[in-house]
Amino acid sequence: MTAIVRALQADITTLSVDAIVNAANSSLLGGGGVDGAIHRAAGPELVQECRLLGGCEVGEARLTKGYRLPARFVIHTVGPVWHGGADGEPELLASCYRNSLALAAGKGARSIAFPGISTGVYGYPIGLAAAVAVSAVSSALAQYGSIREVIFCCFSAGDLAVYQRLLGEK
Ligand code: AR6
Repeated sequence: MTAIVRALQADITTLSVDAIVNAANSSLLGGGGVDGAIHRAAGPELVQECRLLGGCEVGEARLTKGYRLPARFVIHTVGPVWHGGADGEPELLASCYRNSLALAAGKGARSIAFPGISTGVYGYPIGLAAAVAVSAVSSALAQYGSIREVIFCCFSAGDLAVYQRLLGEK
């Protein structure tokens, strides 16, 4: 069976999927942007669990429970800061997507939603980041049999249009 890969415009904290991905920083102790929104919606137990994880390197991912979120799990990944693209950013960003899918599949997740990792404060241009995201997910998905649905959750209509073009939806 092939998985559905689609984009939608939403606040990721509202999605009823098995796992949502957080664009975190290496401390895993919270921050602004989508990270702040996820911690606020999940409640204080999330940061308590995160404290036990001891941080996370760029390109890697860690899994916690979702607490008060509709999602069962939160997968925290640390995207690269954009330095112009010649500093390994595409490879590191692709590994965020691959490692997140692997953790989700390890828990038997059937659905997962990603934000635009690195495309806010970390400055990764949306067109380039979305191309990496779509390509990394498309090429890795076949290995992860449990996953039936992947959502690229866009905060803005402009970001949604970029993903829709890449996915051939528009
Ligand atoms: N739902 C979906 N997407 C969102 C939401 C939301 N509720 N809120 C923001 N976005 P950013 P980064 C989008 O800056 O660039 C944090 O402080 C946003 O529009 O959250 O990876 C961390 O602690 C953008 O498209 O993450 C790190 O220090 C995307 O999420 C740092 O920011 C990512 O923007 C990580 O920076």
